[in-house]
Amino acid sequence: MNPKSLSHNREALEQSTHPRIARYHASRFPAGVEVLDGTAGMGVDAIAFAERGSVVAVENDPVKFEFTRQNVPGKALLANITEYLAEHSPEYLWLDPGRRTDQGRRITKLSEYQPSPLELRESLQNARLSGVKCSPITSDEELESIGRRVEFVSYDRECREAVCWNGRSEIEEGFFAVLLTETEEHVLPRRELEEFVDFPSEYLVEADPAAIRAHCLGNFGLPGIGDSNGYLSSWEKVESPWLRNYKVHHVGSADIKRTRAVLREKGFRVFEVKQKGANLEPTKVMRELKTDGDPVSLIAYRVGKSVKFILASAA
Ligand SMILES: C[S@@+](CC[C@H](N)C(=O)[O-])C[C@H]1O[C@@H](n2cnc3c(N)ncnc32)[C@H](O)[C@@H]1O
Repeated sequence: MNPKSLSHNREALEQSTHPRIARYHASRFPAGVEVLDGTAGMGVDAIAFAERGSVVAVENDPVKFEFTRQNVPGKALLANITEYLAEHSPEYLWLDPGRRTDQGRRITKLSEYQPSPLELRESLQNARLSGVKCSPITSDEELESIGRRVEFVSYDRECREAVCWNGRSEIEEGFFAVLLTETEEHVLPRRELEEFVDFPSEYLVEADPAAIRAHCLGNFGLPGIGDSNGYLSSWEKVESPWLRNYKVHHVGSADIKRTRAVLREKGFRVFEVKQKGANLEPTKVMRELKTDGDPVSLIAYRVGKSVKFILASAA
């Protein structure tokens, strides 16, 4: 399904869930059940629920409701979900609250989401299963306050959302990272890193952003590098949908002159600057390191107060 082929305006399209992720949301509910989508918008999630069972789609904005009505193959109601839930007790409930102010600023606090899931806690807990799509920037404490199971969802190498699952059903509780490809689904439980090194060995391994956000880096059996929170060290290339390998050519301090000399000596040119916690201005660093040669990545990270530079190639 291409959301652009549905009835929409720009705002509704920008707020809509990616169809692959909507399919994942629907797959978490038992097949054949009716899901109440309390914030339907243009209806990408609601269409996925309808494809798996059936849906009742609620939307309170009259303009967006027109899109809901036209796009969703199910019952559509123009109503405020907070008022609706005061009188109804759905068994399966989905919320994807608005998370932008009228000025376009991103909202991260649950109390400012529209509607706020904090006000709907009772319905979320009383349902057989409920899911709330949240911003991955919302704090761990807030997410845990509305979800017994919190999933950070990665698609196309981006941590797109945190989904808080709740309700009376038995669910495996805790934080998880979920990586979706067109046809596959990979899940990791929370496991913190316990071992660290200051520098990488043969390979620097970059973890998926959802694995980082869900505190899952301890699952790979590799030590973390410095304070990077996301770069790991390995003697060998590691095959995993969660990881990207970089062959390390040089490790040193963040010394521009010295790094330029190494680039010249090895016949390399920096084509990208990647960093975690190093606070560099990539264009400035690239300008200062201008050399000719084969393309390599400059990867910067911090160990305590000092910044380190690595020259590496994707492997
Ligand atoms: C992020 S969008 C939902 C997008 C939708 N999941 C999709 O995939 O197309 C949130 C929607 O919730 C609606 N909304 C906000 N507060 C609401 C409320 N109290 N009751 C019902 N709908 C509400 C907004 O108008 C907006 O269309």
